[in-house]
Amino acid sequence: MKVLVVGSGGREHTLAWQVKKSRELSKLYCAPGNAGTAQLATNVPISADDLDGLLAFALSEQIDLTVVGPEAPLVAGIVDRFREAGQPVVGPTAAAALLEGSKAFAKDFMKRHGIPTADYQAFDSPEEAEAALKNGRFQFPLVLKADGLAAGKGVFVCPDLEESLKAVTLVMRERKFGASGSQLVAEEFLEGEETSFMVFSDGSLALPMVPSQDHKAIYEGDQGPNTGGMGAYSMDAILAPQDRQQILEQIIDPTIRGMSEEGRPYCGILYAGLMMTSQGPKVLEFNVRLGDPETQVVLPRIKSDLLTVLQAMAMDNLKGVEIEWSEDAVVCVVVASEGYPNSYEQGKEISGLDMAAEDQNTFVFHAGTDSKGDKTVTSGGRVLGVTSQAPSLQKAIVKAYEGVNKIHFEGMYCRRDIAAKGLRKESR
Ligand code: AMP
Ligand code: GLY
Repeated sequence: MKVLVVGSGGREHTLAWQVKKSRELSKLYCAPGNAGTAQLATNVPISADDLDGLLAFALSEQIDLTVVGPEAPLVAGIVDRFREAGQPVVGPTAAAALLEGSKAFAKDFMKRHGIPTADYQAFDSPEEAEAALKNGRFQFPLVLKADGLAAGKGVFVCPDLEESLKAVTLVMRERKFGASGSQLVAEEFLEGEETSFMVFSDGSLALPMVPSQDHKAIYEGDQGPNTGGMGAYSMDAILAPQDRQQILEQIIDPTIRGMSEEGRPYCGILYAGLMMTSQGPKVLEFNVRLGDPETQVVLPRIKSDLLTVLQAMAMDNLKGVEIEWSEDAVVCVVVASEGYPNSYEQGKEISGLDMAAEDQNTFVFHAGTDSKGDKTVTSGGRVLGVTSQAPSLQKAIVKAYEGVNKIHFEGMYCRRDIAAKGLRKESR
């Protein structure tokens, strides 16, 4: 099979790396890819947002399966375009991708189907939002979210009225997040631990992946502004069996059923960002794709042929597909450019990549990297995801940081506490 992976981040490098193991694979392309995917696939210089270019490429190369990593092309309708042209593709249609594309849609959908989530109200204008805030409609802390795709950065946890008014100005008046600032969602603040739960869905059947936890804040101890994700880990002990069952029954199944009932059948990967509250799991957000960096810790645990699963999803039929998972723990430490999630410099030469990957259970997934002659240089905020797999979380943490310590570039930054919060669970 000829496979095309769309995207250029750590998630896509991991997808390519796992698909590469399949015996069904004959040729692998990545568009546009990064310096890491270039080592195992042919990078094609077409942007993930260039739907015309991607479709033309898939048709001319007779690609057997296209796997879309990021949300933007899904929300823009890449799957509808490919399906109309008879090109097999994994992912939800634009109508189904609204679950991530519009927070207001997702919240209304959850309300319609009784799916547990935080109380909320959506506003169409800054005047409306400011009036509701000043009238004491909400308690603090309060969460305010720009309604649309903002790369994980358009969410504000506001401790008081003053901060919430500042967030309204930033999002709706100054349009810091562009068009996603035309609507604002105000949400009840939920307390608990966050868990990322992803499933493969064919529109009626959902096959769960193993659970994981992201670390969204830039600084240790979950301090500072949110990023796209500074590291993640996966192990079974993240969720007790009864929690897992509750998530499937109260969240995943009603979502897949509800989307189907509403004429937007959900085929593809569904990601539920959950808060495990004292009243049970509640949805913080849906994503319509694999998480990044969750992919880096979940996919290494798949023992089955991932390509077979993806192919079954593209044919809307997961019946009979079984997925075997390793019991190991996996930890991914994201190595970022100094300044991220704000502005940062690029083009810094990276050394130590080969040494870091010498351990056979350590994988260096590239995110913002580029090749320059025979050198690898930084080209993004999140640069690498140094990932280790081991029988215990403690071992996986130690090995991941051993890998990180072998890598160097100017201004390199990483959190030193990735997965530390999981150690408590492991010892339970
Ligand atoms: P989202 O993009 O909606 O997942 O929000 C990004 C992050 O903001 C989440 O991962 C949480 O850490 C935090 N967050 C979002 N909504 C809430 C909420 N209702 N209560 C507490 N924290 C939240
Ligand atoms: N790691 C969070 C996300 O992929 O949205």
